[in-house]
Amino acid sequence: MNNIGVSNMGFSRKAAGAMVIVALGAGVVIGFLSGYYGPAVNTGLTPSSHLIQDADMSVRDKLLGEINAEHIRENHREITRTPHMGGTEAARRLARNIARRWQEQGLAGVKTLPYTVTLSYPDKDNPNRIVLRDGSGDVVHTSQLAEKILRPEQNHSDVVPPYNAFSPSGTPKGPLVYVNYGRREDFLWLKDNKTLNFTGTICIARYGKIFRGDKVSLDIQHHN
Ligand SMILES: *[C@@H]1O[C@H](CO)[C@@H](O)[C@H](O)[C@H]1NC(C)=O
Ligand SMILES: *[C@@H]1O[C@H](CO)[C@@H](O)[C@H](O)[C@H]1NC(C)=O
Ligand SMILES: *[C@@H]1O[C@H](CO)[C@@H](O)[C@H](O)[C@H]1NC(C)=O
Repeated sequence: MNNIGVSNMGFSRKAAGAMVIVALGAGVVIGFLSGYYGPAVNTGLTPSSHLIQDADMSVRDKLLGEINAEHIRENHREITRTPHMGGTEAARRLARNIARRWQEQGLAGVKTLPYTVTLSYPDKDNPNRIVLRDGSGDVVHTSQLAEKILRPEQNHSDVVPPYNAFSPSGTPKGPLVYVNYGRREDFLWLKDNKTLNFTGTICIARYGKIFRGDKVSLDIQHHN
């Protein structure tokens, strides 16, 4: 039997204050589409085929001509330069920055709207860690509390310890089953080729390929 403990009940689930989302008025998009792709009258076509009909190619070329890989790279670097976890002042600054850029670029109807949502934050002073124990209760692995700094910009006080949002701490016990990336096909492969019964097991998956939340969701499906 293996035993995985998530110790230090370090989670603080906060009903976060304002999270700012930059909204681009739908009117702009609809105006753009109807302006370039024909009159907004009922043509008897379904909306999708109406939108994909051939349009003035010079407009397409003009739009493509405006797209510049170097600008995309610069913008991406600028936007991801510092940590900006949802609901924090840094995220608010970033939202304002994006809104300002859009306004400068002449987009009408740019608004920033506050939302109140429940977010899950790690407790920096009491961070979680994962401890793996063997059958006799001896610790065989402890997760690291901070990720290694690989590039200078990662050395920032706003970088939070690794955590799994919205996951409570606990101490599950059971045989470990390695499920590769925890994808649908990985579970199917195991069920088909190993005739595994996942009831009472702990699945361990490697990071990558799909969203980590989906790994948990698929894992739950295969336990039931
Ligand atoms: C992070 O920055 C601090 C100073 O702000 C420095 O002392 C430390 O060596 C840096 N760590 C790494 C891994 O670059
Ligand atoms: C079971 O294994 C065989 C051989 O590796 C493979 O062809 C088959 O696709 C696997 N089954 C599933 C459901 O992945
Ligand atoms: C899996 O195992 C559990 C208990 O060990 C049992 O109740 C269940 O019926 C099994 N499921 C299958 C599909 O064999």
